[in-house]
Amino acid sequence: MIRVAIIGASGYTGVESIEIILRHPEAELTYLTALEAECGHAEDVFGQLKGRCDMEIEPLDFDKLAGLADVALCCLPHKVSMEFVPKLLDAGLKVIDFSADYRLKDVEIYEKFYEVKHTDTANLARAVYGLPELFREQIKGVDLVANPGCYPTGALLAIAPLLKEGLIETDSIVVNAVTGVSGAGKNPSSKFHFPNMNENLFAYGIGSHRHMPEMEQIAGEVTGSNVQILFQPHVGPFDRGIASTVYCQPKGKVDFAKLAGLYEDFYCCEQFVQIRKDAPPVKDVAGTNYCHVFPTCVKGRIVVFSAIDNLIKGASGQAIQNMNIIFGLKETLGLG
Ligand SMILES: NC(=O)c1ccc[n+]([C@@H]2O[C@H](COP(=O)([O-])OP(=O)(O)OC[C@H]3O[C@@H](n4cnc5c(N)ncnc54)[C@H](OP(=O)(O)O)[C@@H]3O)[C@@H](O)[C@H]2O)c1
Repeated sequence: MIRVAIIGASGYTGVESIEIILRHPEAELTYLTALEAECGHAEDVFGQLKGRCDMEIEPLDFDKLAGLADVALCCLPHKVSMEFVPKLLDAGLKVIDFSADYRLKDVEIYEKFYEVKHTDTANLARAVYGLPELFREQIKGVDLVANPGCYPTGALLAIAPLLKEGLIETDSIVVNAVTGVSGAGKNPSSKFHFPNMNENLFAYGIGSHRHMPEMEQIAGEVTGSNVQILFQPHVGPFDRGIASTVYCQPKGKVDFAKLAGLYEDFYCCEQFVQIRKDAPPVKDVAGTNYCHVFPTCVKGRIVVFSAIDNLIKGASGQAIQNMNIIFGLKETLGLG
């Protein structure tokens, strides 16, 4: 059994990770940690775990952790993560980090968009970007995985076949996406407070969202050239899910009749990416590790629709998919 510690177990992605490991046949929870004020019996912290998780969520003690776990799912905010990750690695654990601290390879871009100094550049250099459908081979056996952002997961899976085949102008990509409110984590703010959020929908992060450089970096790695992406996020009055619509200008003549076939071929061995014949609603993927994708053509443009659950394929499910790959387990374990 793989012994799993969840760091930041009291948050949204923390409890999703607990849920998945509870049903994983070859992994077990051995240590759950949070800040002191949020600690307690797991069943008391999360009522839905009543009768299913007889464990304490306790303050992190690195000496205790070292003998207790093989892997840490680090569900902490950015900036906090890079304080913890080096110590988790020193304690001999493999680490899957949910934050952005190990995703952006260019430190200057990280510091500009996250407005903090990067304090762990040594480990940044060796972190592997954990989007299994694109980087499976690099993830195998690695010590540190940077789990992708939720928006980049939906957008990159939507356009990866086009980028790999060189079918689109790489400065033409527009990603328009809507997330549910859980994307912002559990801490309340006036913007996401019920009276403002209910029956409302609005754009935010105009021209400045932190996931834009992440999409561009990974798209650039896939194509081997500079990629420009205009990304516009929105938030809507639902709990979970991200619907993305990606618009691309084809390079030269594209046989639109063959578009669906291209996607079917590209993702033919991927359990968690399913190609559809209609635009996927977020409810179809809620609570699952699936990304549903629909490529089509509108007025000479290629338009690709995708849907994921931000907390599962966009966070905890993808992390456990990465854990399975790291340890050589069947990739779908716990995620079926
Ligand atoms: N929500 C999503 O859809 C989503 C998707 C992809 C990636 N992510 C990333 O996943 C990470 C966790 O997100 P989340 O939505 O689960 O956030 P969250 O609900 O706010 O939970 C964050 C967790 O980190 C703990 N924490 C906060 N500050 C800390 C500190 N200084 N020291 C120790 N622990 C601290 C919190 O403890 P307390 O309970 O004590 O506050 C909580 O357990 C973030 O980096 C986020 O960007 C989130």
